[in-house]
This record gives sequence, C-alpha cells and structure tokens, in this order.
Amino acid sequence: MTSQEIRKRFLDFFAKRNHAILDSASLITADDPKATNATLFNTAGMQPLIPYLMGEKHSRGTRLASSQKCVRTGDLEEVGDNTHATFFEMLGNWSLGDYFKKEAITWSWEFLTDINEGLGLDPNRLYVTVFAGNDMVPRDTEAVEIWKQFIPEHRIYYRDSKDNWWTAGANSPAGPSTEMFYDLTGGLGDLSAEEFEQADEDQKLIEIWNDVFMSYRLEGGEIVGELPQKNVDTGAGLERVTAVMQGTTNIFDTDLFLPLLTIVKDGAENYNERHARIVADHIKTAVFLINDGVVISNTGRGYVLRRILRRAYSSLEEMQCSEKIIPDLIHAVIEMYRDLYFKDVDEKKIAVKIKIVATEMDKIIRIIKRGVKIFKKIKDNPNTLVTGKFLMDLEQTQGLPLSMSLKLAKQFGIDISHEAIQEAKRLRKEHQELSRKGAAQKFKGGLAEDTPKIRALHTATHLMLAGLRQELGNDVHQKGSNITEERTRFDFTYNEKVSRETLDKVEEYVNNAIQTHAKMGVQLMEKEKAKQSDVVGSFWEKYPDTVKVWTISDNKGNIYSRELCGGPHVDDLSQIAEFGVFKIKKEESSSAGVRRIKAVLEK
Ligand code: ALA
Repeated sequence: MTSQEIRKRFLDFFAKRNHAILDSASLITADDPKATNATLFNTAGMQPLIPYLMGEKHSRGTRLASSQKCVRTGDLEEVGDNTHATFFEMLGNWSLGDYFKKEAITWSWEFLTDINEGLGLDPNRLYVTVFAGNDMVPRDTEAVEIWKQFIPEHRIYYRDSKDNWWTAGANSPAGPSTEMFYDLTGGLGDLSAEEFEQADEDQKLIEIWNDVFMSYRLEGGEIVGELPQKNVDTGAGLERVTAVMQGTTNIFDTDLFLPLLTIVKDGAENYNERHARIVADHIKTAVFLINDGVVISNTGRGYVLRRILRRAYSSLEEMQCSEKIIPDLIHAVIEMYRDLYFKDVDEKKIAVKIKIVATEMDKIIRIIKRGVKIFKKIKDNPNTLVTGKFLMDLEQTQGLPLSMSLKLAKQFGIDISHEAIQEAKRLRKEHQELSRKGAAQKFKGGLAEDTPKIRALHTATHLMLAGLRQELGNDVHQKGSNITEERTRFDFTYNEKVSRETLDKVEEYVNNAIQTHAKMGVQLMEKEKAKQSDVVGSFWEKYPDTVKVWTISDNKGNIYSRELCGGPHVDDLSQIAEFGVFKIKKEESSSAGVRRIKAVLEK
C-alpha cells in the first residue's frame, strides 16, 4: 500500500464515521499564544485544535480528522535512526466532547485490522498499553475493558505517565492515553510485561498510534481541573504506519523517502546511510518550512531552518556529495507531495525555493572556507592560544559553529583544551539567555496577544497619546501600556488629574481621525534619524538600529500621530470603526507623576 493510499484510507474511514476532514494547517503555529503554547511549529495533529479541545466551538462540528504536517526538532540527534525524522505527517481523529473511549478504541482497532476499510494488520502482531494511574488520575481500567473485546488481556500493558499521558505543554489540555504497538519481526507472539518492555527497547516493536482521552486542563504543568468536555485526540505517524505496511523496519525504506535517498546515493562518492537519511529528511523539512513562509534568520523559526540546512550540508560533505544534487532533491520533494501540499507551485516558485536553499548553502561554504583560513593561520603560528572566547567569537561573528571549529582544529592538528570548550559553551549559554531576555522584554513592550480587536485598540492608543499631547503639551510621554480584548490601559507622564473636559477632547481627536478615514502608514527609519525628527517614542533604548515609524494622516496631509512602535497595527482605520467608537472610561493616578487611562471601543 502506498503512503498516499494509507492517508486516503484513513481519512475515508473517518469521513464515513461522520468526521469532517480538515486540510493540514500550516507548519507555523498560529499567532494566538493560547493556541500555540509557544512552540515554533505544529508538532502534533492536535496543536491547531487546542482552542477547540479547550471548549471553543469548531465550525466543522464535533468530529474531525486530518493528516497534519508536523515538524519536531527536539531530538535532532536521533534523526536518521529507524524511526525519527524532523518532518512527518500525523494522521488523527478528534472528538470534541462527542464520542469517548469506546468509539475511539473500537475505530482504532477496526482501522488497524480491517482488510477492506483499513490496513488489514495481523491482530496477532498488535499490543496495547494503557495508563497505570497516579495520585491525580485513576488507572484506566475502562480502556482495558474495551480493549478486551479485541485483544487478549495479557497483551495489554500498564504504563505510567512517562509514556501514557499526553499534553501539549505546561498550559494545555491533557489526558491519559492508550498506545498501539506492532511487532516488526513477526515472531514475538505473547509477551510478559518485561518482555514487552525489552522488545520495545530493542526496536522490535513500533508504536503506531496513540489515543488520548483528553479531559483535563493543565496550568503551569499542574492539573487544575477538568475541561468543559471530554475529548478524544489521536495521532498515528504516517511514516511509521507506511513502514509497517511496506514491510520494512524503518521509516526511510518507504516511498516517503526512497526517491530522495536514491538521489543522494547517485551523487555521493562515499555513501553513508545515516548521513543520507539526514540529508533527505532535512532538505524535505526545509522545503516545507520555506513553503509555509519561514525565512532564514538567526532567531526562532528562521534559525531552525538555518540550522537544519547547515546540518544537511555537513552530512553532504561527510559523504563527499556535491551540493549540486540539492535542486534535484527539492524537485523530488515537491513531486512526492504535489497533489497534497504543492498544487499551486509552478516552476518559477520552485526556482525561488531552490535559490533560497542554494544561497544558504553558499553562505555555509564561504563560512567554512573562511574557517579553514583561520585555522591554517593558527597552525602557522603555534603560539596562538585558542580560548573559549575566541571560539564563541567565531560562532557569533563569523557564523562558524563550535562543532565545525572543533572539526577544523582536528583536521589541522591544533589542540583545543577542554577548558576552552567548556568556556565557549558557557559563553554561548550566557549569550542565549541574554537574547531570550531581550526578546521577552520586547514582546511585553509590544502586545501580549495579537487579535483584530487588540490591533484596533493599539492603533487607537497611538491616536490617544497624540491627542493627550495636543491637549496637555509635549511633556506627556508614554510610561507603559497594556492592551487586552476588553480595553487599553495606558500610563503617561503628567502631574495632575486630567479634567473630563480634556478627556472628551482627546476622545474627539481619536474618533475624528477614525471617521475622516485617516490612513495608516509605516516606514523604516534609522533610529538616530527618527530620534532627531518629530517622531514620538519612549523606550528608545529597547529598539534596534532600524525602527518602524507609524504615521496616521489624512489625505489633506494632516498628521494625527507619528510614533515609534514595533507592534502590529490595523492596515486601515476603518478596522477600528468596526468595533465602535473610542471612549475613555477612567483616568486616575498610577504613581507619582504618572497618570493611568482606561479606554475602550464600544458600539
Ligand atoms: N497528540 C497525541 C500525539 O501526538 C495523539 O501522540
């Protein structure tokens, strides 16, 4: 059975059982921090569904199924073994407060074993685990009772929360799970609990499906209560199921990887299976990430992309394989998944993707060439001491990763002390912590969340500051701001109570700008230039050298507001009017010399 058929069978099976079939969401997690648990990419089929598992209504109903694109980069070191890839697809079915354990387990079993509608796997090669229970959540004997209809009790094993408990982070829906395993060898037969654990460790078994009974709510990693509804969340890795169906013991010898491995094999002087798998997986992931809009950078998602491309390059080099095979790999990825994910991708767009990868590869090659020169020079000057700081400078200013420096040093026979390596790692950690702190601060200074309403209130807040300055003078500066769906809260410097009359004028200023259809414009400026101009801003020191300046003006050239800001705004002021008119609800003292306003948009 091809992977394409497996995917189709799964979705057909659940469509027949009244599930709405969802398209895969983008790999990039939604902006809503509630929905993302702050992960960079979707790492499970349930991730885009978190708000609905928490109780929000889904427009497609209470029974859903999908094949979701996922990227996991948590265990990069394991990629290339038998079962780990960074990109994979997860087949899943969900009940949002609809069916629960009985149907979920019955359908999992039917899909796995039924020849006509499902996969037709041999029931004698299947095993299951269920949740053993803990202080908070009871042992799942209910699941065992259901499983007993299909599988002998001695092939049902209890496992604790390390294996049979699923959450998507510290603040998420959660619950006990039951997992299904397949005997890859075909000869395991009945196993005691110890034998089962051993067979799993020896990779004679493969976990192919996980049914989570999701009815708890976690906050800060602790169960704080039950969800308003009992949900089912299931996940079956398409790559693993395909391996089972194509009679192999690893996910790479399947139609989801073989076309890519063949290209690597043809191009490599010195073929190595593990490195070839890394190249195939990483280039596939890169194509999917770029297709979903990830741009190479030194932080966040863009950094993950850069990192996997560098790793792919390093594996190519190990195999003495020219990077010239990369365009072929990219084409092959697109062809393999064309009908599903690359329907609209034409040659021109493919060329763009190839160029992105090729440019990055060129960069890496240049960095390495520079590294070779540096280490050659050190070799010619044996008195040079390679310190931890030097190694970190190479990584941070030249882009030469520590691992690559160590490799080059070895090549040139240069000794680097253990202390220097430790020092380099310590410095790297320090640097990371600093930049993480910086990022967190920037986020707070902007908005905690990004919704249309919050954007509208945010733009209105800019207008309000301009109005306050017009009425009270230019000594008024922003001291802080906090915007939620309900209101904007704004602190500013001023020494006395602001009269209602003045507040009315400020309101009028804001509403007038909105009603005259003033336009929103944004411009990038050198920070120093902006500082010397009429741009209003606070916390200049927190901004990078190039800043964004937002200007609200009408077509007669009247400027309502001109302010420095890194956060998101409406594109057009009519998007504010949709939420009503601007009203200042409260003005009070916040601290010495600082006043606080609460304002809303209301109809
Ligand atoms: N969310 C569960 C998993 O990914 C089904 O294993």
